[in-house]
Amino acid sequence: MPEPQSFAENRPSMLARLMAGITEHAPNVTAGPIDDTPTPDEPGHPEYHRRQRAEFALTRWQTAVPYRYRQATTDHPVIQAWADRAAANIRDAGFLVLHGAIGTGKTHQAYGALRRIAEAGPRNFQMIATTAPDLYGLLRPGGSDKSSEHELKRLCRIPLLLLDDLGTEKLSEFTEETTTRIVNYRYNESLPLLITTNLPVRTGHAAAPDLVTRLGDRLASRLAQTATIVSFDGPDRRRGLRSVR
Ligand SMILES: Nc1ncnc2c1ncn2[C@@H]1O[C@H](COP(=O)(O)OP(=O)(O)OP(=O)(O)O)[C@@H](O)[C@H]1O
Ligand SMILES: [Mg+2]
Repeated sequence: MPEPQSFAENRPSMLARLMAGITEHAPNVTAGPIDDTPTPDEPGHPEYHRRQRAEFALTRWQTAVPYRYRQATTDHPVIQAWADRAAANIRDAGFLVLHGAIGTGKTHQAYGALRRIAEAGPRNFQMIATTAPDLYGLLRPGGSDKSSEHELKRLCRIPLLLLDDLGTEKLSEFTEETTTRIVNYRYNESLPLLITTNLPVRTGHAAAPDLVTRLGDRLASRLAQTATIVSFDGPDRRRGLRSVR
């Protein structure tokens, strides 16, 4: 009677059969390095982190934007290009001046521009949006000097500042000085400033109000050097929305 084969004697043929089975079921699989590069949906991928920053920035944008403009986007190519420059490098954008008649969509486009910057997911998205009358009301000389000065510095230094409706505030020495300090600081630091205004940039007539006379030659010169100026000349959108009897 033949001796029962030991396991050791059997091993080569068992291994051979195992390998044959593997080759048969997965003929093209070869061992190789494991690809553990993160996908855009995983931490570690730049796109994943950009999306996270964009989400955070959009939340900040939402809280800073009045309810009416929460759906605002910009469809103006020049404003889009300005926003893209600001998103890439805040110090490359310069000022943005949107001027035109009442209800032509300036404020909508300004908030749209800020949204576009948020959506790009910049590293430091901080914005303040205020109307000029609110701003000068907040900084009234009557208020506490210390808190006024603190607030003014915040407005100067914030990465993104929207000054809506410039020119509708009542002019005084105080408003002039405040505007000068904000514009001058932001110009010196190459920080962007969004301005919307009903005033034309320059009329050339001493009697007709314009932005240049309002701001004075020194500020106007700074504006001319850095500003992207967009003119709005469409109809009053508010009148088109609802007919009033
Ligand atoms: N592209 C747009 N799509 C949808 N709604 C818009 C658009 N542009 C403006 N609107 C709406 O039209 C109205 C007027 O727009 P907006 O307030 O931006 O005008 P404005 O030029 O800032 O006016 P004003 O000079 O009086 O401040 C608003 O209700 C705004 O939401
Ligand atoms: Mg407006």
